[in-house]
Amino acid sequence: MYGERAIASLRRGFCRFSARRKTEESASVTVSASRKLVGDRLRSVQSVRDASLESALLVSMAIGKSREHVVLNPSLTLSERQRARLMRLVRLRQEEMPMAYICGVREFWGLEFEVNPSTLIPRPETETLVSAALRLAKRGGKILDLGTGTGCVILSILKELRPCQGVSAPGMDGRVRDDWRGCAVDISKDALNVAKKNAKILGLSDAVQFIHADWTFETGGRAPPRVHPSLGGFDIVVSNPPYLTREDWTRLPKSVADYEPKVALDGSEDGLRAYRALARQVPSVLKANGHLVLEIGSWQEEGVRELFKGAMRHEASIRDPCGRMRCLVFKKMS
Ligand SMILES: C[S@@+](CC[C@H](N)C(=O)[O-])C[C@H]1O[C@@H](n2cnc3c(N)ncnc32)[C@H](O)[C@@H]1O
Repeated sequence: MYGERAIASLRRGFCRFSARRKTEESASVTVSASRKLVGDRLRSVQSVRDASLESALLVSMAIGKSREHVVLNPSLTLSERQRARLMRLVRLRQEEMPMAYICGVREFWGLEFEVNPSTLIPRPETETLVSAALRLAKRGGKILDLGTGTGCVILSILKELRPCQGVSAPGMDGRVRDDWRGCAVDISKDALNVAKKNAKILGLSDAVQFIHADWTFETGGRAPPRVHPSLGGFDIVVSNPPYLTREDWTRLPKSVADYEPKVALDGSEDGLRAYRALARQVPSVLKANGHLVLEIGSWQEEGVRELFKGAMRHEASIRDPCGRMRCLVFKKMS
């Protein structure tokens, strides 16, 4: 039989043991421990550039608080449900699902856009298109976005041009530029629904008409002027069409190839299919002296300029902030 001292010693030992286990358990579920664990797991994921930033984002999603809250409260503990949610999110990211699809949002032009797997994730280089179009936007007018996706291009442009009714935008020489209207076309109904939602969030629902159409006529879709008779000619057409070649396609990282919509990226064998269609269609939807602002792949300047020769005058070739050729501006000859 155990003596009293032995029992007391066992009790003390058990207390110390359970205290240690408790500390270990709670340590393993604090925000800071979770971030470390998630960061370690994400470091081996190919598309993860900043494991520390992504771990903070995933933890913030799992606990339903802002990233700032996560950073400022490292000793907060996660409930079992929050830990399970975190592990589900981590698994998705380990399978190379892009962070933007996991979060459901991506920042573009300083604005937040909803995204889902039916839309391309807006890329920073596409902001080159927005600034080029803004430089052309004088007085009021009509602007058409062919292949709108999340609506990031046209909505960013209109957000600048229509800051609020009757008030001039900064840097606009006192001109009131709230008389711009837009029309956004996409072949994907699901993408258009996302764009409509983004327009609503940005307070631009009244400024844009959304049209489900195919700009090529190839699948029986209708051309913008016919589906949009009330607007007539456009002053500016913007487009970031699909432009990857078949060869590019084979080199895409898993995070793009397996998750982003093929219809948003695939430019056929030579990457130029969409530009051929646009060269046929765009002159007929533009007003005289109207402009087309096109995103291109950095290697496509020559090929795309050739396609528009005769139909429109080349006005500018613009590089993106990384120095890559990214945007061509054409003017309709009157
Ligand atoms: C490269 S994504 C650009 C999306 C968005 N404008 C951006 O810059 O993030 C091309 C978009 O064109 C759409 N698209 C592709 N082919 C089309 C067609 N024939 N007619 C209309 N839209 C098309 C795709 O659904 C996709 O949303």
